[in-house]
Amino acid sequence: MSTAIYYFSATGNSLVVAKDVAWGLEGVSLIPVSRAIDEGGVEQYDKVGLVFPVYMFGLPLIIKDFLKEAKFKPGAYIFSIATFGGMPGRVHSLARKILNRRGIDLACGFSVMMPGNYTPLYGAVSKEQQEEMFRKEKVRAKELSQFILEGKRGIYEEKPFLANLILYSLIYNIGSLGIPGAASGFWVKDTCIKCGLCAKVCPVDNIEMRDGKPYWFDHCQHCMACLQWCPAEAIQYKKSTEGRRRYHHPEIAQEDIRS
Ligand SMILES: Cc1cc2nc3c(=O)[nH]c(=O)nc-3n(C[C@H](O)[C@H](O)[C@H](O)COP(=O)(O)O)c2cc1C
Repeated sequence: MSTAIYYFSATGNSLVVAKDVAWGLEGVSLIPVSRAIDEGGVEQYDKVGLVFPVYMFGLPLIIKDFLKEAKFKPGAYIFSIATFGGMPGRVHSLARKILNRRGIDLACGFSVMMPGNYTPLYGAVSKEQQEEMFRKEKVRAKELSQFILEGKRGIYEEKPFLANLILYSLIYNIGSLGIPGAASGFWVKDTCIKCGLCAKVCPVDNIEMRDGKPYWFDHCQHCMACLQWCPAEAIQYKKSTEGRRRYHHPEIAQEDIRS
């Protein structure tokens, strides 16, 4: 039985979950979702997993595109795992809906709480809180691997239902429309050391260095990788991110983000 896990991750949370779940399965190919969109190849796998962050109570746009376009093997067992900072939203319902329209079934959908990384709204949680979440994630990943290994179905985690439904309807449906152009809100302080790391970690290749400074194109996923990985904390988003504590998962190196 061949298995692939496709991941999208800006600060490493989803990548750690993808790696840990893969570890408990057999012979898994771990692949960035951007590569699947460019190169295909999904149809060769009997089991296909998607691991990604919750954005605005819904799916990152790149995950939506994957679900709409990927060529799955007929009858493939498809599972989704979302990482989230506080409210898991409606990601699995949305994923199911997209797949169902194509006559494809989503076997199960899980949500794993990890440190939030949306700096325009808040700074990173304390190291102690992070450690506690990381500890729980390791236990959870083993349980999920077992569930998937046994080919079980039917769990879609998105509680609390009503709050998620309302926030999803209000925020995702409107907010996600502006995501590709949201890169216009990024700017860089004079403390930029011109290292180019922001361009290297961008998982969708949306940044180019011009005269030593980052220039953002208009196919942004709003993932915050550029802002979170900047070693000088020079990258900001609009007016609210200055002085806020940055975050990326300590098990993940910058070269893992866009591999
Ligand atoms: C644009 C954006 C929107 C987000 N929206 C939500 C949300 O609606 N609910 C939530 O719990 N976390 C939200 N988060 C936090 C991430 O889902 C969470 O930190 C995730 O684990 C990050 O995964 P990554 O490190 O793999 O990128 C958001 C983060 C970003 C960048």
